[in-house]
Amino acid sequence: MSQINVRVDGVDYTDDVEPRTLLVHYLREQLGKVGTVVGCDTSNCGACTVHLDGEAVKSCTVFAVQADGSEVTTIEGIGSADGALHPMQKAFHEMHGLQCGFCTPGMIMASIDLVNDNPDPSEDEVREGIEGNLCRCTGYQNIVRAVQQAAAEMNGRTAGAAETMGAQA
Ligand code: FES
Ligand code: FES
Repeated sequence: MSQINVRVDGVDYTDDVEPRTLLVHYLREQLGKVGTVVGCDTSNCGACTVHLDGEAVKSCTVFAVQADGSEVTTIEGIGSADGALHPMQKAFHEMHGLQCGFCTPGMIMASIDLVNDNPDPSEDEVREGIEGNLCRCTGYQNIVRAVQQAAAEMNGRTAGAAETMGAQA
């Protein structure tokens, strides 16, 4: 066992983990952060995406011990303390960017990182930015619209849903 100190969604934890424990399993099984999901066993789907020190990572590709001393943010840590949704969550809801929702936690975490790096992504840039995240339901069009709407809100622009949808139609 190895001891790790990690801050997850704003709370400090000290835990013993097996050296082979993956970060996603630590989050789900030891911390109960089941909003972060496992969608494959090949590191391909992106459903397990979290932020590690502010960067999107597939948490099934990182050992928990590698997060020692780091800050992890999951889908459960991005909303406001008062329960308000993050702008990316709100945009996915408003633009119907999900169907079954299984890919959505990872898709949202990857999309926030994308918008942090590129405040005004084009459709092609959104598609490229989320190419590591697979969705089996939506066909991606509404996901792209949601990311662009959230990018506008996160960066103080006024592009509304109708305008965004009209531009993409
Ligand atoms: S569960 Fe991590 S990439 Fe699929
Ligand atoms: S909404 Fe079902 S996998 Fe994306």
